[in-house]
Amino acid sequence: MPAVRMVLQRLLLHPWAKGWVVLLCASPGAYLVYGAFTESLGVNPAETLIRQTGDLTIRALCYVLMVTPLKDLFKIPALLRHRRTLGLAVLAYASLHLLSYAWLDMGLELEDILADVFKRPFIFVGMAGFVFLAALGATSFNAAIKAMGPKRWKTLHQAVYVVVALAVLHFYWMRAGKHRFDDVIFYGGILALLLLYRMVQALRYRMSRLS
Ligand code: HEM
Repeated sequence: MPAVRMVLQRLLLHPWAKGWVVLLCASPGAYLVYGAFTESLGVNPAETLIRQTGDLTIRALCYVLMVTPLKDLFKIPALLRHRRTLGLAVLAYASLHLLSYAWLDMGLELEDILADVFKRPFIFVGMAGFVFLAALGATSFNAAIKAMGPKRWKTLHQAVYVVVALAVLHFYWMRAGKHRFDDVIFYGGILALLLLYRMVQALRYRMSRLS
């Protein structure tokens, strides 16, 4: 095990590792875009694109939240080097998801989009999740951390809890009409466990500072 850990650690620290992680994150999206251009997304390509990008967003959210527990469990600190890339992948897939909806469902009509946001609660919740996600993405760079100061930056980045809650609620509400909750329970369960881990770690850190 220490040998495997060392190999993984070295691979993750390799100068090319960032490029490989970006490629890995981008490949499902590129495959979908390729499918759209080659007209191989089935009978309802718009629905496929919107749903698949939604799935990719929630999956990417799970992966980014897995970084810290995996680092702690397997003692591979180099995993942290790739957390920002994974976070930006969540934002990129959410943007693709929003763009697919705005373009293919709404024909890029801003008035119709706004009306839909206030008409359908699951769209409102998805949009709110996107706004928080965008704020996290925009402040994920070193310059933003420096400008805000680590304390304020950390407080803002607690908003990841809000993003998770809104994402699961959006998914639940969307599926409620179809009475299909299997995936919602699966992703909701994973995300709840990952958030619980974060909360326990934060609590432990506070207790250790008090004692
Ligand atoms: C945090 C951001 C978001 C996440 C994690 C997310 C996730 C998801 C997921 C997992 C699905 C279900 C896919 C499936 O059925 O397999 C979905 C569907 C959908 N989402 Fe989102 N979403 C987000 C934001 C948005 C935004 C901003 C909009 C539009 C304003 C939106 C509009 C839709 C629509 C229209 C559907 C498909 C509904 C249908 O086919 O009946 N989502 N989303």
